[in-house]
Amino acid sequence: MHWITGCAGAAAISGLTLLAVPVLAFAAYSLLFGLRGLGLDLTDETYLYTPDGTSANLAVFSHMVLGALIMVLAPLQLIASLRARFPAAHRVLGRVVVTASIVTALGGLGYIALRGSLAGPLMDAGFALYGVLVLVAAIQAWRHARAGAYARHRAWALRLLVLVMGSLIYRLHYALWYLLTDGLGSTAQLDGPFDQVQYVAFYLPYLLALELWLRRSAPAPHAAR
Ligand code: HEM
Repeated sequence: MHWITGCAGAAAISGLTLLAVPVLAFAAYSLLFGLRGLGLDLTDETYLYTPDGTSANLAVFSHMVLGALIMVLAPLQLIASLRARFPAAHRVLGRVVVTASIVTALGGLGYIALRGSLAGPLMDAGFALYGVLVLVAAIQAWRHARAGAYARHRAWALRLLVLVMGSLIYRLHYALWYLLTDGLGSTAQLDGPFDQVQYVAFYLPYLLALELWLRRSAPAPHAAR
């Protein structure tokens, strides 16, 4: 029995370690890209840089820095043993994650408003919806924690986590698709059929799956708060 528990524990730890690799790699990429964009002129390197566009650059590159931060911090908030041992740290980190999520979403939305995304209105719409959902999830997670409504807090915190990971999932979808099809239906302007599905496919199906899981695992109505 102990052996089985030990194996399950080892499998869980190996699984989490495997997941941590792409998360940390993408967070490091995003952090470096963001810091370079905030400090250097990247005109010749990326279309995301606006020459003499202080607000647009601040919006897009600060969203990369803070996005990287939440991608690393948000999963830590889920670890029950950490929450139980260091409740004060959970509260402090929670405030950091919520604030950084709000600023990340506002940065992404600000960039869309100022410059627009590479592929235009459809991509703008998909990414803007993503930003609004991040905003709503962060605010709701915070509100319900403040009110002591922990079941609701947990549900919104999970939604926020799935959304934050969406940013990595977006790139993983592309990596897998290029590996399997050599980029069928994807263009450099990100306006091919595959790209268009991607405008929402990196977060909506995962949010839906989470909703189904939350519904199936919900306690009896009188127990939920
Ligand atoms: C959750 C954490 C996030 C991280 C780590 C992140 C990171 C990045 C990075 C690294 C890029 C540069 C493109 C690339 O190199 O692939 C980017 C682009 C972009 N991000 Fe985010 N992002 C996050 C969340 C958001 C949110 C919430 C929005 C909300 C609207 C957003 C909107 C955008 C937009 C519009 C672009 C430019 C797309 C284009 O025109 O190519 N991001 N993001």
